[in-house]
Amino acid sequence: MRVAETNAGDLLELDDIKVKLSGLQILDGVTIRVPRGLVTGLIGPNGAGKTTVFNVISGFVKQDSGSVTYEGRKLRHIKSHHLAKMGISRTLQGVGLFASLTALENVMQGGSSRLRSGILSESFAMPWTDVEQERLRVDALAALDRLGIADQAERLPSELPYPIQKRVALARALMPNPKLLLLDEPAGGVSAGDMAELSSLIRSWVPERSVLLVEHHMELVMAVCDLIWVLDAGKVIASGTPDEVRNDPAVLAAYLGEEGAA
Ligand SMILES: Nc1ncnc2c1ncn2[C@@H]1O[C@H](COP(=O)(O)OP(=O)(O)OP(=O)(O)O)[C@@H](O)[C@H]1O
Ligand SMILES: [Mg+2]
Repeated sequence: MRVAETNAGDLLELDDIKVKLSGLQILDGVTIRVPRGLVTGLIGPNGAGKTTVFNVISGFVKQDSGSVTYEGRKLRHIKSHHLAKMGISRTLQGVGLFASLTALENVMQGGSSRLRSGILSESFAMPWTDVEQERLRVDALAALDRLGIADQAERLPSELPYPIQKRVALARALMPNPKLLLLDEPAGGVSAGDMAELSSLIRSWVPERSVLLVEHHMELVMAVCDLIWVLDAGKVIASGTPDEVRNDPAVLAAYLGEEGAA
């Protein structure tokens, strides 16, 4: 197994993370690093533990052992509602938009952590001042516009095709101006034609931001990632550049195993 060496310039490091859920060892000593200013991929067959890694980083799942270091500081109790203030944003494997809010309101909600009143206090009807709300609205519209969907601002998620909903979720994740973007399968449901656009969009965020990308579309992964970590059954089985990973026998075996099981 080849594992990329550690580097002092890393934004995020997971060291020997172990997680058991319902008695099953889901992550079994996962060590990965996410360098600053790069697109880092996290790939592996279904059930490998990729989303669980995101859940640990974002405080939805507490590891049994091992550490998470962000910007050189060990994070002891990760609270999901502190993520935006730490500069970490995440998109979910599905879409995760609020069904009763318009696309614009969903994106505005992504920027609400910078308001004094914080995130979704009671409902969307929060004690925001008109000035704050107007500023958020302008920023959210600009975020939708950068993703080419400003004309969909007033629609509810249920009125939008799935790939557009995914874009709304991306716009929402960008609202807090994150240093680190955790993207869980952003290409799910995206047509082959839109894949190139998604690639250049992701590349446009670095080096200002750092990206950790979970994705099954190998074409996209190989095109956008600088560094890739490969998980299988809760363990890192390989890491390196796209070319190194593509030709790694352990990676080929893991994916062949998946096809055999399907
Ligand atoms: N709360 C839970 N309790 C028990 N098992 C769980 C729980 N959450 C996830 N798992 C199991 O952990 C394993 C890893 O799940 P995870 O969602 O992290 O995989 P993944 O790599 O993201 O897969 P996919 O590519 O299908 O999204 C799977 O076998 C899953 O069934
Ligand atoms: Mg997953």
